Parts: sequence; structure tokens; C-alpha cells
Amino acid sequence: MRLESDSAGSGPTIVLLHGFPLDRSMWKSQADALATRHRVVTPDLRGHGASAAPPGVYSMDDQAADVLETLDALGVTGPFILGGLSMGGYVAMALAAKAPERLSALLLLNTRCKPDSPDAAANREKLASQVESTGDVAPVVNGMLPKLFADDTRDRQPELVTQWERRMLRTPAAGVVGALRGMAIRPDRTDTLRQLDVPTLVLAGAKDVIIPLNEAEEMASVLRRGHFEIIGGAGHLAPVENPDATSSVISRFLGDLT
Ligand code: MLT
Repeated sequence: MRLESDSAGSGPTIVLLHGFPLDRSMWKSQADALATRHRVVTPDLRGHGASAAPPGVYSMDDQAADVLETLDALGVTGPFILGGLSMGGYVAMALAAKAPERLSALLLLNTRCKPDSPDAAANREKLASQVESTGDVAPVVNGMLPKLFADDTRDRQPELVTQWERRMLRTPAAGVVGALRGMAIRPDRTDTLRQLDVPTLVLAGAKDVIIPLNEAEEMASVLRRGHFEIIGGAGHLAPVENPDATSSVISRFLGDLT
């Protein structure tokens, strides 16, 4: 499926995939910063933002195929830099498993390579069934919101939290259901990362309660060409909570590759 996307700047292509249930606007600061030297493509994943929300299960593999189809349509046929936050990271790892030759570098932000535990998968199914029968995504958004931002962010930027709550509530029910069920069936990608031979940045939020620091660090340790960085003061949404630090870390990492 072809995705709606923004494209800015020129140079080597970098593709940034948002988390759940967010949209491409989460990358605004990074797109502005990186577009001085790159072509930055930010798609809305299926069921999110302005992209269509078909019924069904959105497997990470299908979403990776959406990204490749969209890049084909944009004329990006060679290797590119791929980044993803949380669910966007799951999709990025699915793409790395499917088409490693398309990657020149990988950025894994606030994400994990391990699959859901049976309890986590069952909880996603419970939420998906609830949203499916009521059409209301609020229980999912209300459940996630307290875990997305660091306390510091809530205290200092309350309007940012409110703004994201409003955006998340606009996600179509079919999108939330499809993504929840897709994430619940995603496989373990540790072996994909172990075999990957491209420079990979693993970026963690110091206060991320969804992906604990030690788990992010352990993921970085399986990579042959891994580089681990922590964004101070940030929770699960480092690129929006601490945008300048996140952009600087990414720019420095990419700059060191050239
Ligand atoms: C996300 O931010 O994309 C979600 O926290 C991913 C998840 O629920 O596993």
C-alpha cells in the first residue's frame, strides 16, 4: 500500500518511521535539521495520520512492504538510511530482515528487538477487541499517555503532552486495531540485528519506561556495527521531548559515517 509522506531537502535519502499511534509530524525537528544534507522522507504508516486505514492486521512485514512501495513511487531505488521509533523501529527491523541490501545505515530509537510476552500480546488483543467493538480509541490513548513522556517533559512542556494526546485521539479505530494486532504477532529480530552489517545507532531515552535503558543497551550489544546513545531527560518520545539533542546525536552519527 502506498503511504502519504513528506519529503524535504536533497542528498542521501533518510526515511523516518513514527511510533504508535502517532504520525509523521513527530519528526518535524529532525526533518528540519537533517534536510540540510539529506532528502528526508517521513511517511505516515498505514492506519495513521493521512494514510489509509484498511481493515485487517498490520503485520510489521506488510508495513515494511508499504515503505518500500512508497519509496519506489518516490523514485528512491538505491540504499537509504532508515530510522524508526518504537513501532517504527519494529517496521524498520522487518525491512532490515526482508531487504538488508536496501539499507546504508539504521537508526533505532526507543525500540526493542524482542517480541511481545504472551501477557503483552494478550493485553493488545483485549484492547484491539475493545476498540473494534466500540470504535473508540480513547482507552488505548489514555493507557499509553502516562508512559510516553518523562515527568520532566510533563512539568516543563504540558502543552506538548496535550497536543500529542489530541493527535493520538485522531488515529482511526481500524488503524489502532490493525497496528495492535500486528505488533502482537511480530517476531524476535535479534538474529536480524546480529547479522546486519550496516552502521546502526541505538538511541534510548534516559527515562523511557516502555523500553528500559538496559534493554536498549543489550540490543545495541548484539550489533556488529552498533553505537549506543542516551538522550537525557527524555522518556519514550525522545525526538519530540528533547528534539535538539536527538537531532544532534543523529547528525553526528551520520556525519561520522561520511
Ligand atoms: C510505540 O510507541 O510505537 C509503542 O509504544 C510500541 C509498542 O506498543 O510496543
